[in-house]
Amino acid sequence: MSHNWNALAQHRAATETRPILSLFDGNGRAAEYSVRLGNLLFDYSKTNIDATARGLLLELAQEAEIEARRDAMFAGAKINETEGRAVLHTALRNLDGALVVDGADVMPEIRTTLARMEAFAEDVRNGVLLGQGGPITDVVNIGIGGSDLGPAMAAIALSPFSDGPRLHFVSNVDGAQITETLAGLNPGTTLVIVASKTFTTIETMTNAETARRWMAETVSDPAAQFCAVSTSAERTAAFGIPPERVFGFADWVGGRYSMWGPVGLALMLGIGPTNFRRFLAGGAAMDTHFREAPLNANMPVLLALVGLWHHQICGHGSRAVLPYDQRLSRLPAYLQQLEMESNGKRVSMDGQDLTRVSGPVVWGEPGTNGQHAFYQLIHQGTAVVPCEFILGARGHEPDLAHHQTLLVANCLAQSEALLRGRTLEEARAMMAAAGLQGAELDRQARHRVFPGNRPSTTLIYPQLTPEVLGQIIALYEHRVFVEGVILGINSFDQWGVELGKELANALQPVLEGHATTEGKDGSTTQLVEYVRGARGS
Ligand code: F6P
Repeated sequence: MSHNWNALAQHRAATETRPILSLFDGNGRAAEYSVRLGNLLFDYSKTNIDATARGLLLELAQEAEIEARRDAMFAGAKINETEGRAVLHTALRNLDGALVVDGADVMPEIRTTLARMEAFAEDVRNGVLLGQGGPITDVVNIGIGGSDLGPAMAAIALSPFSDGPRLHFVSNVDGAQITETLAGLNPGTTLVIVASKTFTTIETMTNAETARRWMAETVSDPAAQFCAVSTSAERTAAFGIPPERVFGFADWVGGRYSMWGPVGLALMLGIGPTNFRRFLAGGAAMDTHFREAPLNANMPVLLALVGLWHHQICGHGSRAVLPYDQRLSRLPAYLQQLEMESNGKRVSMDGQDLTRVSGPVVWGEPGTNGQHAFYQLIHQGTAVVPCEFILGARGHEPDLAHHQTLLVANCLAQSEALLRGRTLEEARAMMAAAGLQGAELDRQARHRVFPGNRPSTTLIYPQLTPEVLGQIIALYEHRVFVEGVILGINSFDQWGVELGKELANALQPVLEGHATTEGKDGSTTQLVEYVRGARGS
């Protein structure tokens, strides 16, 4: 193992109690510990990372041969070794030139599929392609995980750019979601997208069947109002969707990295092909930066190193993603899949047990809502939660600029409060000013102390546009890649989701009374019996 891990641990031990605030003493720290790509600014100066820590972290990245591994990914090498696949979601947004995988240039097909999506989207949006009850007013995307979270998150994020049909997303196999979604819709003017890379995912296929039955109740040719997004032409055909309404992609696009291609169809229908291209361009700009900027000025690399510092070296078990942009309300959920499905692993690429802890728990909610919920713990709880603030300087509501000012003030205030805290002396002075004395003053003051010295980063942009969203998503994708490479993880498989799927399949007949609970543990048996009793089955 690299001596840098030990050196970092020693450095951390030596600097743990140092006030982060002291690092700012007249040394231009904010600029020095920030990196820009165009108007996007990532400020990691409110962390305890100093020149020594950063130097050691950068050495870790160099030792892991980040640049060579990055270039291998972009070139189509099969870096997803457990599945024998290349990792080329980046090819979906860098559309020029050629890229040879397994002896064939994959770019012509990517461009053709994108052009087909665009023609289809224009036809739907312009009323050329009609539903059986008239122009399409609503689109229902049925998918889960990577076939849902990206377009669902982006549909909200880019709603100011939305001028197409209304978008709805159904992911959960819980019948409540599809029931409530379809309840308000007219089958004759609804387009259903079945989005599933494999076209086998039980939740998606169950919801797709239910949607088809709903459509068939009032529409003579339900299949005509279905389209599919998948890597499996066979299975989409078996479902009855004609090839001209199937948008395919290759297996080297991982589910949680797939919103740049056909999985983004719902988004394209909502915001239009031009805005969708702007989103791709934002991602491509981040790719170019990631490929060309030196490591010490490379935003994804630095975001990853800050993450590793907090999780691996400081031992903080989670990180909060806190967008001060209500339209990024689903970003934390999106990043949970991106980061935790990618780097929540227990063995390294070569199958050996990891000697370090793997990916942190990622969670969050938009500000200011979170401030009135869980920030209490972030400020005064005993566990330190590194916070990643994400902030738009301007909103899309010019008449409500005063709202935006308050929003921004709150975001900046939170990172300032985390940094500074409030000392016992300050709290005592507050209580004295409020008229308290003696033991009661002491007791009350202690409750009002904020330890401070809690790390945060801020990613700030002028306004949330398709380009900016593309930059942010690609930034986090590459952050996951860099962290994974340094930890020796394969960030592109997800074997950890399989066991639960297998057991659920086996439990289905048990719940239906077609099989017994033999071999099940006592708790599972009790719960099955409870469900059967409650359902009278
Ligand atoms: O359950 C995990 C997973 O395989 C994700 O990685 C994926 O995004 C999701 O399920 C949906 O898969 P599919 O697109 O094949 O339906």
